[in-house]
Amino acid sequence: MAKEKKAKTNNIENEHGASMEKIVSLCKRRGFVYPSSEIYGGLSATWDYGPLGSELKNNIQQSWWKAMVRKHDNIVGLDAAIMMHPRTWEASGHVENFSDPLVDCKDCKTRFREDHLEELWKEKGITDGSCPECKGTLTEARQFNLMFTTHMGPVADSGHEIYLRPETAQGIFVNFKNVVDTSPVKVPFGIAQVGKAFRNEITTKNFIFRTCEFEQMEMQYFVKPGNEDEAFEEWKAKRIAWYKEKLGIREDRLRFHQHGPKELAHYAKDAYDIEYQYPFGWQELEGVHSRTDFDLSRHGEYCGKEINYLDPSDNSRYIPYVIETSSGLTRSVLVALMDAYHEETIGVDKKGDPDVRTVLHFHPEIAPVKVAIFPLVKKDGLSEIAKDLEKGLRDDFATFYDQGGAIGRRYRRMDEIGTPFCITVDYDSKEDQTVTLRFRDSMEQVRIPMEGLAERLRKEIRDYKRA
Ligand code: GAP
Repeated sequence: MAKEKKAKTNNIENEHGASMEKIVSLCKRRGFVYPSSEIYGGLSATWDYGPLGSELKNNIQQSWWKAMVRKHDNIVGLDAAIMMHPRTWEASGHVENFSDPLVDCKDCKTRFREDHLEELWKEKGITDGSCPECKGTLTEARQFNLMFTTHMGPVADSGHEIYLRPETAQGIFVNFKNVVDTSPVKVPFGIAQVGKAFRNEITTKNFIFRTCEFEQMEMQYFVKPGNEDEAFEEWKAKRIAWYKEKLGIREDRLRFHQHGPKELAHYAKDAYDIEYQYPFGWQELEGVHSRTDFDLSRHGEYCGKEINYLDPSDNSRYIPYVIETSSGLTRSVLVALMDAYHEETIGVDKKGDPDVRTVLHFHPEIAPVKVAIFPLVKKDGLSEIAKDLEKGLRDDFATFYDQGGAIGRRYRRMDEIGTPFCITVDYDSKEDQTVTLRFRDSMEQVRIPMEGLAERLRKEIRDYKRA
């Protein structure tokens, strides 16, 4: 039954032919994402990023960093440790509250999140509250803390127990004073961080959507109490615009979802999720939260020294309020892949069947390979010219050189990994120093001079608009 259900959701396609099953298969086949420790049968809750996946993830991270840190003169970066003092998590409330209600089946031993049961029962037409897998008897719900614990040092007793951080945010809060004391920042200002986080999720599903090890891109924006509503609106607008403009995500697949009273954390004043329309439904991609002064106050309380801020503009002293933008980096990789994936019929093949190409319409800024260079044939000095051209572009772009097979097939291989530009060197190139520039999206080809190629590509990337 479990397998059947998984297959059903994995097969759901969006209007461009993207389904989870096809994305997983493409990711494995082309080296974006592999099951973790696959030679031992894999660990379904974690995944490895291959040659193209690590480039894609790095590009998304860099785009975020540029938008948040480089483009704001009042936002600075941080890279805090994953392992933190355990008091951190008492202060933040994670030890007490960071749990999901867990229900076990007494018969087949499957575990469920209690809050997922209603949906599963509905899906399977179960009306007696029994196990959705085997119709067995379910236990009462108990709280299951999502933090992973480990032991620091040689003694495995509770005195040395520490946690793997379940969010990057707390590294920012505990360093608030350090940053204020050592950087020329003044409220309002932000601290940004990208890094790994770990959660012992009861149900990991949908590929890299929900995993036990993942990466976050978080920014805490500190404001004077009273100014939080304005900052909240500002950050909501900036964050959704980043997905559209920099990641190239289609506007109609993004929306805001405001947390209702039941979803809202007890300390939060307001919270919105930026949701994406995955083939399996609308789900969270990023959270934008108005967190009051809860975190700084609690850390002040737990460390024994109030963490506050002396505002030089009016000599007032206060605990700043916080607006948090919390995006999943690994989840953004999934969204970038999902949104870019298109199956397009572009005519008929030799047998008269529809000729379908698979193409990833990545924004060029995040494409793992920006430009591929091909000699039309490898003889008559064409490969030498193409190799020289490719080497000349390496400093500025992620390049790829390929001299094998028919040119049309080489273009298709690049379409499938989302390479926005291909350059072909042919016999005319030897005579007039021109090459063919082929565009991934339109498949249009134009003849351009070799000289100034890097500048031309830079312009194409800068001016890119998704059709
Ligand atoms: N500091 C606030 C915070 O961590 P969250 O809503 O729990 O908020 C923020 O997480 C983002 O992190 C989510 O929107 C999602 O993109 C990502 N995320 C959370 N749990 C995840 C998981 N188990 N696997 C992958 N991404 C996850």
